[in-house]
Parts: sequence; C-alpha cells; structure tokens
Amino acid sequence: MKKTILLLSILAVVIFLTNCNTTGEKKKGIPTASTDTISQIKSPLETGQEMAMKTKAILGKHLVTAIQDMGTEGAIEFCSSRAIQLTDSMSTVLGSRIKRVAERNRNPVNVASADELSYIKEIKASLTRKENPKPQLKETTETYTAYYPILTDQLCLQCHGDKKTDIKPATLSTLNRLYPGDKATGFKLNELRGIWVVEMKKAK
Ligand code: HEC
Repeated sequence: MKKTILLLSILAVVIFLTNCNTTGEKKKGIPTASTDTISQIKSPLETGQEMAMKTKAILGKHLVTAIQDMGTEGAIEFCSSRAIQLTDSMSTVLGSRIKRVAERNRNPVNVASADELSYIKEIKASLTRKENPKPQLKETTETYTAYYPILTDQLCLQCHGDKKTDIKPATLSTLNRLYPGDKATGFKLNELRGIWVVEMKKAK
C-alpha cells in the first residue's frame, strides 16, 4: 500500500514537472517572440517620446493642482522648487536622462546647449512655415538623444505670456523675485516655449 502511494506520488511529481516544462517552454517561446517584436517596432524616437510625455503628464498634473490649491503665485514657488526635482526623479524611474531646456529660459540651469539650440532654430523655422514640428534623433556609439518641441497652450500664458496682458502683477513680482534674469515671458499661444531632451543608453 505504502509502495503504491509512493509510486503514485512520484508519478504525480513527474507529470507535474513535465507539464511545467512544456508550458514553461511554450511560455518562453511566445512572449519572447512578441516582446522582441514590440521592442523592434518601437524606435528610439518613440521610446523617448513616451518618456517625455510621461514626465509632461506628471509635471502637468502637479502644476494644475498647485494652481488650484495655491493660485498662480503659489504655483510659481512650487515650480521653482519641484519642477527639476520631478523631472529628475522621472529620469531615475525611466532609466534615462530627461530634461527641459529653452533658448529663452527662466531657470538658468535650463539653458539650451549649442546642439539643443540648433534643434530649437529648426523647429522655429518649421513653425514659421506652418509645418508640424518634428522630433529629432542624434546618435553616438553609446547613446541616442531625442529632441521634442514644447509648445505653449492657454494655461502657460499666466506665467510665460505677455507681462502686461497675460501675467498678473502679483505673479510678475514673484517671478522677478525668484528669477531676476527671467527670459521666459512674452510667449504667445502655440509658440515654441522649449524642448524635451531625452538621452537613452543603447542596449548592449
Ligand atoms: C504657475 C506658473 C507657471 C505656469 C502656469 C507654467 N510655467 Fe513653465 N515655468 C514656471 C517656472 C517658475 C519655471 C522655472 C522652473 C524651475 O526653476 O525649474 C518654468 C519653467 C519652464 C520650462 C523650463 C525651461 C525654463 O525656462 O526654465 C519650460 C519648458 C516651461 N516652463 C514650459 C511651460 C509650459 C509649456 C507651460 C504650459 C503648459 C508652463 N510652462 C506653465 C512657471 C510656470
């Protein structure tokens, strides 16, 4: 009796293991093929765009909440202490370097480099020609760097628009206090405010 139970248990274990193996192999076969196909389809430009848009969503959500809770001036203090922090933490989460830079920057840290400026010039020219601004990709042996335009919408103008008509006096005085060298006012709707720069390490 004991022997039969032992044999049955061994048989059960063997069946279990074989089953496991075959399903294991099947599983291994299917998802690898499909994930491989997905990663082949997604270009560095698409991957970078996804990262920039995720970061934009986080920043946007915090900005809107800050304006609702503390008004525009309060939100400036929030942007001033948290915008770069949030962008950097998204870089860590997404495993790439993500930043926002501008030709007419507010925070001196966000000044565009020569490479970034040349992309900004191209985008400005294409907007003048009424074309859709296109992203751009630069490649080195180890990295891809992707650039995407940041256009203004109505929300932006209360802090980046015309100093007389769009920005309230109280907002302007907070901006002047926190950013004495601010170049980021005088923007109109749908104008290029800055760019996203996403630097991705190539897979080895
Ligand atoms: C409540 C005021 C406020 C609003 C609204 C606002 N910004 Fe800003 N923006 C700021 C402040 C303050 C900074 C500087 C942040 C820092 O010090 O890191 C900034 C920085 C930036 C930067 C980084 C480059 C630079 O100049 O330092 C970009 C790009 C930008 N804003 C785009 C936008 C866009 C696009 C919108 C609309 C969707 C917007 N902002 C709405 C206050 C605002």
